Amino acid sequence: MKYNFETCISRKGKGSYKWDEMSQQNPNLPDDVSPLSVADMEFSVAPEILDGLKQRLEDNPILGYEVPTNDYYDAVIGWMKKIHNWQIKKEWIVPNGSVVPALVTSIKAFTKPEDSILIMTPVYYPFYDVINYTHRKIITSPLKFNGEKYTIDFTDLAAKASDINVKMLILCSPHNPVGRVWTKEELKKIANICLTNKVLVLSDEIHSDLLMPGSIHTPYATISENAADNSVICTAPSKTFNTAGMQAANIIIKNPYLRNLFEDQQRRKGDSGMPVNLMGLQTVQLAYSKGEPWYHEMLKVIDSNRQYLEDYIGNNIPEIKVLPMEGTYLQWWDCTGLGFSDYQTLNKFMKQKAFLFFDDGYMFGEAGSQFERINIACPQATLQKAMERLTKAVKKLRN
Ligand SMILES: Cc1ncc(COP(=O)(O)O)c(C=O)c1O
Repeated sequence: MKYNFETCISRKGKGSYKWDEMSQQNPNLPDDVSPLSVADMEFSVAPEILDGLKQRLEDNPILGYEVPTNDYYDAVIGWMKKIHNWQIKKEWIVPNGSVVPALVTSIKAFTKPEDSILIMTPVYYPFYDVINYTHRKIITSPLKFNGEKYTIDFTDLAAKASDINVKMLILCSPHNPVGRVWTKEELKKIANICLTNKVLVLSDEIHSDLLMPGSIHTPYATISENAADNSVICTAPSKTFNTAGMQAANIIIKNPYLRNLFEDQQRRKGDSGMPVNLMGLQTVQLAYSKGEPWYHEMLKVIDSNRQYLEDYIGNNIPEIKVLPMEGTYLQWWDCTGLGFSDYQTLNKFMKQKAFLFFDDGYMFGEAGSQFERINIACPQATLQKAMERLTKAVKKLRN
């Protein structure tokens, strides 16, 4: 391997959200405990990005107002074409600080207070928040779970989309937390339902580069011309390249009418003055133009971590079922077999007995209450230590 994915870097006391949260929950933890929660990675950022940022400061020591350059747009267009075979145009790209604020801007731009918005649950918990903040109504279409795999309940989705008050579907593609990479066939069915019922699709594709072998991401806007014209696609290099702190995303909107409404809300109505700061712009350009070798190695490491955990849990802790992670770097565990009566006791067991700091499943919706979401973007040694602690705690629980 050309890059280092093995060194464990402590972020204790350095302002990392998840490390600080863990220390607050338990200030007396052993030094080798690393949180496996919030979705950033425990890997050092690609040297091509770090060196490029340093170079920018040396070459041009002015931190003024900056706008995306042609090289910026070329880098975004090049990445989408090469990685996803998606041909986009410069004018479709709307840079934005990050994806969650873009969801808020989209809701405000395309719907009215009291309108209803569909989400498929369990799902990334800020989807609930952005609908609540903007005073729209949440309509949930629960995913079907057969004990092995999640699928979309198309009958339920179609029934709910046919409600005249439902104006938007926020799609999570690939889906956080259940790890599904929606197939082209599934996306076609979603598109049929949404086009028939005039429901706009806001597709959050922030995890789209994070694919395990055998999975192919289909950008929603490539399903058909009509689907492209009825959608807003949220993308960012932040999950892929571990650059979330740089706050830089690209919202891709083919339909000029929708794009104009979005930009109107974003700039002229003041949701965001300067959508992306200059180091964010540099980060996007560097990641997409120079980061590909790091990206391919990183995917191999995530896949090996995924396999390690599947094997370890499968062989040693049958009470837990690791669900297939087709995409993202977030594994979803069904912990029902541990036998806890409510989510509080499961979460207490993980944090206090096993010193494991995951994202507790209940946060993603009621159906997730006996589940945990594990961030596996870390050196494998960190996962091995986590498995030692889990095994000890489960043995005590069995006795
Ligand atoms: C589905 C999804 N959307 C958005 C985000 C956050 O995006 P941002 O940091 O750009 O707001 C995350 C982070 O985990 C995510 O999983």
